[in-house]
Amino acid sequence: MSVDTTPELVVRSPETNAQGYHEFSLGEFRFKRDEFFAYINWPTGAHIMSVDAFLRALQRDVAWDFFYGIVNFDGVFGTMNHYGTVDIFAGRYNDAYRKAELDYYENVETPLIRETFKSILGDWTNEGFDPFASPHETGPAFGIKHGANTAAITRRRVAARRMVNVPGDEELRTDDSGHRVNRMFAYVPQDEPDIEVEPGFESEVAAFSLFAYLSRSQVTWNPSVVSVCKDSLFCPTTEEYILPIIHGNDRVEWFVQLSDEITWEVEDRDAGGVRARVTMKAGDVCAMPADIRHQGYSPKRSMLLVWENGSADLPDLIASGQTPTYPIEF
Ligand SMILES: [Fe+2]
Repeated sequence: MSVDTTPELVVRSPETNAQGYHEFSLGEFRFKRDEFFAYINWPTGAHIMSVDAFLRALQRDVAWDFFYGIVNFDGVFGTMNHYGTVDIFAGRYNDAYRKAELDYYENVETPLIRETFKSILGDWTNEGFDPFASPHETGPAFGIKHGANTAAITRRRVAARRMVNVPGDEELRTDDSGHRVNRMFAYVPQDEPDIEVEPGFESEVAAFSLFAYLSRSQVTWNPSVVSVCKDSLFCPTTEEYILPIIHGNDRVEWFVQLSDEITWEVEDRDAGGVRARVTMKAGDVCAMPADIRHQGYSPKRSMLLVWENGSADLPDLIASGQTPTYPIEF
């Protein structure tokens, strides 16, 4: 989440609709919801999504500040991050829409889309619905407007400066901090490593149990930074049900399956054609190329380590062909 705010620029209907929700505009895009659906309109078309799926995707786009590359809410609507500005698009990465010339996008300043999306998320999320939670651990998104869930949608994102459990950095998760062991990870040992430090290096040496840490995650499909070495970011996450976005990469991502199993549907990033299905079992490692998009299915809550290269140079290097879209030559 960023400190830049321009809430006065958010275009919101003064009145609520019959179901109690405000309607929003961003450029030529229009957003409205009713009891079950989100409706998106743009000058050349219109789209409809189940509102729970829309809010789960919106939650991640907001919390990740538009993430790396493309956040597809589904096969039609989404955002592409240019790290300072964001493209908001409809049908742009969909062959059928492009051939019919119904695709459309606008490039907007990041603070404006950030604040607009935060406002939609806040207004459209009802009491009891947690867009970050497994569908098994949240109430429904549906119905006429009732209450809000500000605490759930404004969670602080874990972003270690060096590593979890380094003095002054992100802290371990405990019962006392509200992070109880998830029902699906009751078997995970909770003991922490013994650390024997040479005197004088107490602030420099740290360790923690990543399995215990992840067993206490309250949210799903939310990579958060637990260790940093220059541009090398370890972003583990716990997964259950379906990744609520289809992520279009602008760089290579490595996946290390730490427990259980995830099936990844992998498509061409720009056209959407099916490229592969990857089933990862505990211990499997794979690299997602920079020219694909992917969506994961996790039948039981699982632990996944996403290894990101945070270099700001990568999107241009890959787009210009100076760096390949794949990570390694065999
Ligand atoms: Fe990805």
